[in-house]
Amino acid sequence: MTDFDQQLSRKNTNSVKWDGIVQTYHKEDLIPLWVADMDFMAPTPVIEALTNYSQQGIFGYSVTPDSLYEAIIAWENERYGYQLTKKDILFSPGVVPSIGVAIQAYTKPGDTVLIHDPVYHPFANMVKANGRIPSASPLHVVAGRFQMDLADMEARIKKDHIKLFILCNPHNPGGRVWEQEELLAVGRLCQKYGVIVVADEIHQDLVFAPHRHVSFQTVAPDFADFSLILTAATKTFNLAGIKHSMVYIKNPSLRKAFKDIQEMTEQATISTFGLLGTETAYRQGGEWLTELLAYLAENSRFTQEYFANHLPQVTMMAPEGTYLAWLDFSAFGLSDQQLQTKMIEEAGVVLNAGTIFGKQGTGHMRLNLACPKATLEAGLERIVKAFQE
Ligand SMILES: Cc1ncc(COP(=O)(O)O)c(C=O)c1O
Repeated sequence: MTDFDQQLSRKNTNSVKWDGIVQTYHKEDLIPLWVADMDFMAPTPVIEALTNYSQQGIFGYSVTPDSLYEAIIAWENERYGYQLTKKDILFSPGVVPSIGVAIQAYTKPGDTVLIHDPVYHPFANMVKANGRIPSASPLHVVAGRFQMDLADMEARIKKDHIKLFILCNPHNPGGRVWEQEELLAVGRLCQKYGVIVVADEIHQDLVFAPHRHVSFQTVAPDFADFSLILTAATKTFNLAGIKHSMVYIKNPSLRKAFKDIQEMTEQATISTFGLLGTETAYRQGGEWLTELLAYLAENSRFTQEYFANHLPQVTMMAPEGTYLAWLDFSAFGLSDQQLQTKMIEEAGVVLNAGTIFGKQGTGHMRLNLACPKATLEAGLERIVKAFQE
């Protein structure tokens, strides 16, 4: 059994989540419930594999072993019924770098790219950094969960001649695990207008029962014709720093266009720690993941109950997947700047400001549930105290 209650010091490890606080806020004593990595030890077999490799003491270039492909193919097939072959799988140093490659491969400078609002902020950032224009279709809260607005998406596709849509499946920051019917509807819409779908599925394994991850390419047999999947073991197993991810492309012409851009910048070579961490996690991390999901589900339940009992003005969108909670503070009537200042200066807790995820994030903040319950409770106590006053 993994002891997820263990309090680990991550200070002075160059951690963005912990040491980045001092750089950003010039304060020492804030509780970090922001950046999406976890304050938990990775699965023991992964730690051992990386340690053993380090001990042989040579860190030269690596080939990509067939055993890595086999581990990925088995993981996707056994868990999601998603069938891949070796040729469908490309590698990259990260999902965000792959979003950049996809934008360059499938659009031209000045084109408009469809995303949602709110959504993981690097989507819009990468679109802009590549000289394209993001068009953000609002998600609507219906019965406490986000829903896509297909009419709005269609109007944007037509008006701006959109050829690329970046989907977050499951959704960060709202924790929605999109269902088969929703994915079918949005996929058919994109297909109708010749829109390529880039599905970022990095949160695929972080899903709470009874919800079930549906990979975009398993929704219908023809969905692989106009889509690619970006995913990784790094989010699931807390390995973000090893910088390694996968790209699944079945359509040969989409794959060639993607590979051509990767080759221009020699981006397809993968890190030794990346391939070793990913393969070991997929082969030996299943039990750890089951325990993790139970721990995260309890942290999520606890947080919801905590707000309901102590600060009912805050509404929490209970995540169906991911370890992120989307919190609505708008009842306090604060500006986004005031909200952020209160959280940092009065509560002493760092959350992500909702506005980084889009205009609809106003009045909201994103909280990371992936820490020992005692840390979470200390953070919640501080938030309640600051906002009750
Ligand atoms: C939806 C989503 N995509 C991508 C990433 C980061 O991926 P990578 O580190 O592989 O670039 C994150 C990290 O939080 C994420 O939430």
